[in-house]
Amino acid sequence: MNVTQIKLKNFRNYREAVIDFVPGVQVFVGKNAQGKTNLLEAIFFAVLSKSFRTSVDEEMIGWETEESRLTVLFQNRIAGHNLQFLLKKGEKRENLLNGQPVKKRDVIGYLNAVLFSPEDLLLVKGAPTGRRKFLDLEISQTQPAYYRTLLKYQRALFQRNVLLKQIQEGQAKRAVLDLWDEQISPLAEQLVRERQRNIGRLTEIAGRIHEKITAGRESFSANYCIYAAAGRETVSDYPTWYKEELKKSREKDIRRGTTEFGPHKDDIIFLINSRDGKSFASQGQQRTAVLSLKLAEIELMHEIIGEYPILLLDDVMSELDEKRRLNLIEEINGKVQTFITGTERIQGLGELKPTYYWIDSGAVFTEDGSLDQ
Ligand SMILES: Nc1ncnc2c1ncn2[C@@H]1O[C@H](COP(=O)(O)OP(=O)(O)O)[C@@H](O)[C@H]1O
Ligand SMILES: [Mg+2]
Repeated sequence: MNVTQIKLKNFRNYREAVIDFVPGVQVFVGKNAQGKTNLLEAIFFAVLSKSFRTSVDEEMIGWETEESRLTVLFQNRIAGHNLQFLLKKGEKRENLLNGQPVKKRDVIGYLNAVLFSPEDLLLVKGAPTGRRKFLDLEISQTQPAYYRTLLKYQRALFQRNVLLKQIQEGQAKRAVLDLWDEQISPLAEQLVRERQRNIGRLTEIAGRIHEKITAGRESFSANYCIYAAAGRETVSDYPTWYKEELKKSREKDIRRGTTEFGPHKDDIIFLINSRDGKSFASQGQQRTAVLSLKLAEIELMHEIIGEYPILLLDDVMSELDEKRRLNLIEEINGKVQTFITGTERIQGLGELKPTYYWIDSGAVFTEDGSLDQ
C-alpha cells in the first residue's frame, strides 16, 4: 500500500501544507523541532485514528487556532481511500472515510504501518508496557476484531476497578464482582490467545532475520508470559486459571482498588541465544533484535493482509550502523513505501532513489526548491 498525499491545516506547526508522495522512499530532512516527526504523526494518525505521541487530540491543533484538519490519501490492494480528521477544541472530533462519517474505531485496518522510533530501541530491556503495546498495535492493525476486543477489555477492566473501589468504600456488594469476572474472562482469554499466536509467528520470522543479520552467530526467539502470583508462566487452561486467580486475589484487589491479574499485566520475554535479553543483551544485540522484529512485523502483515504495510522510521537511521542499515534496505527495497526522518541526508540509500523533502519551521521544500504547498 502507498500513501499518495497528506493535507494539513493547523496541524501542529503546519498552517497549511499539501504533500504528494511516491511509492518508494521519502526522506524528511531538517534541523531539530522543525516538524519532521509531526509529518510521521500525521500519516500514522490514519492507521489507528490516533497519535503515536499523545492521547490528547487537542495537543495537535495548531496553537492559537480552533481546529485542525488532517487528510490522508492512500491506495491499498483494494482501492484508493481518503481519510479525513477534523479536530476541534473542546468538541468531539469528526472522522470521515471516503467522505462518510465513521467512528474512530472503524478507521482501523485500512492503512497499515510499521513504526520504528528511538523508543523502540528499549523494547527488549524497557518496561513491559512497551512490549504489550508493540504487540497490541501489530495485531490490532491486521485484525480489527482484536482491537475491538482490546477496547472492550480495557473498558471492562476500568469498570471492574471502579467497582472494586466502591466495594472498598461499602457502596457496592462483593457479589456484583461475579458478574464482572464472568464478562471479563472470555475477553482476557481472546487477547491472550491472539497474542500468543502472533508472537509465535512474529518471532519465527524475526528469528530467521536475526540469524541472517548476525551471519548465524545468534539466535532470537520470544515467549509470551502470563503474569501470575508465582511469577510469569504459561497456562494450559486459561479461562479456568484466570477465574481462579481473580477469585484468589479478590480481597487484595478490593483493598488496592485495582485488578492484579490479566493481559494488562502480561509480558514478553525476548531471548537472545536462549537467554533473557532483558538481563543479558548488549546494546548491539538489542538493536539487531528490534530491527529483526520490525522487519518481521512487515513480513507478517504481508502474510496476513496480502500486501506490504508502509514503514515509518523516525530518527532511527542514525542509530543503526552500516551493516544493519544495509540489512534494512535489502528488506524494504522495491517493496515497502518508507518514510524516514533525519537531520541530514542519509548515507547509503543510493539504490533506493529516495525523494528528499526539506522541512523548515512547518514548511516543506522539495528537491527542486519549490515550496510544496
Ligand atoms: N500544537 C502545536 N501547534 C504549533 N506548533 C506545535 C504544536 N505542537 C508542536 N509544535 C511544534 O512542532 C515542533 C516539533 O515538531 P517535530 O516534528 O517533533 O520536530 P522534529 O523535526 O524534531 O521531528 C516544535 O517546534 C513544536 O513547538
Ligand atoms: Mg523528531
